[in-house]
Amino acid sequence: MPSDRLDTFNRLAKVAIVTGAAQGVGLGIAQVLAAKGLAVALADVQADQAESEAEALRQKGFQAIGVGLDVVSSESWIEAIQKTEQHFGALDVLVNNAGISPRGTAEFTDEALWDQCMDINLKGSWLGIKAALPGFRARNFGRIINIGSTRSTRPLRGLFAYGVSKAGMLAMTQQVAVEYVNDGVTSNMVAPGWVDTPGERILQQRHGRPDFPAGLKNLITPGDVGDAAWYLVGPSGDRVNGLVLYLDAGLAVADDAGMIYLPDAQHNRYEQRL
Ligand SMILES: NC(=O)c1ccc[n+]([C@@H]2O[C@H](COP(=O)([O-])OP(=O)(O)OC[C@H]3O[C@@H](n4cnc5c(N)ncnc54)[C@H](O)[C@@H]3O)[C@@H](O)[C@H]2O)c1
Repeated sequence: MPSDRLDTFNRLAKVAIVTGAAQGVGLGIAQVLAAKGLAVALADVQADQAESEAEALRQKGFQAIGVGLDVVSSESWIEAIQKTEQHFGALDVLVNNAGISPRGTAEFTDEALWDQCMDINLKGSWLGIKAALPGFRARNFGRIINIGSTRSTRPLRGLFAYGVSKAGMLAMTQQVAVEYVNDGVTSNMVAPGWVDTPGERILQQRHGRPDFPAGLKNLITPGDVGDAAWYLVGPSGDRVNGLVLYLDAGLAVADDAGMIYLPDAQHNRYEQRL
């Protein structure tokens, strides 16, 4: 490869901020990036839990801090990014992971729930991108990773506001990829299927299911999502821009959306309880 291409391509990301990193998918991503050698700010409204997970990473010899962040506030974003840059000297990677997944059809989603879902999942991610971009452009280097969902492109009954917000994230990912392609900034999306997280377990319980359905196949782990994020952050990541990386064991291309995880015998039983 010619040396000028090496100069362009081989800059490695060193510092990341991951939102919603106090637990679940965000924590899995933070753990993988820290283990790969990045300094990581674990940002969350649950500031104490984020700091305690950062301390656990420091105990392992990794670089990590906990940062209080409410993604719906632009002021909070500016403070969180300043704190990260002051502590680690720069910011190279933004992972927009914080999100909620409320249930409800179009008819049974009330306005407050719609607003909350759009604010956290969509506007919150945009505010992070907006706050990070000036530094990314100044350094001619930045990696944006949005955590979407199989539901970004594959609707499931009862996930109305969530599906719309995640489809919006896909549009935002690709819009930003196009707008900043000449600024050393990439914008990609990881779209997981069903991930075993504290938030998802609470939702299961609310729907009367104490656990994930028995026999469930191909449940994704937060670490799997971290590995996918690492691909987009790591040495090959700058060749990839505007991508949707489905991490869903084929769910996004299946005819029976939502059902391929379950053994045949359990399909109907599970459907009736949704
Ligand atoms: N669990 C799944 O099956 C699944 C599948 C596909 C995509 N996802 C996506 O992964 C992301 C994380 O999901 P999870 O299952 O780990 O959820 P979770 O509820 O376990 O964790 C979400 C985290 O986000 C934080 N958070 C919530 N609102 C916030 C705000 N306003 N500001 C900052 N932090 C905030 C919470 O405190 C929490 O730590 C979400 O965007 C979700 O849509 C999850």
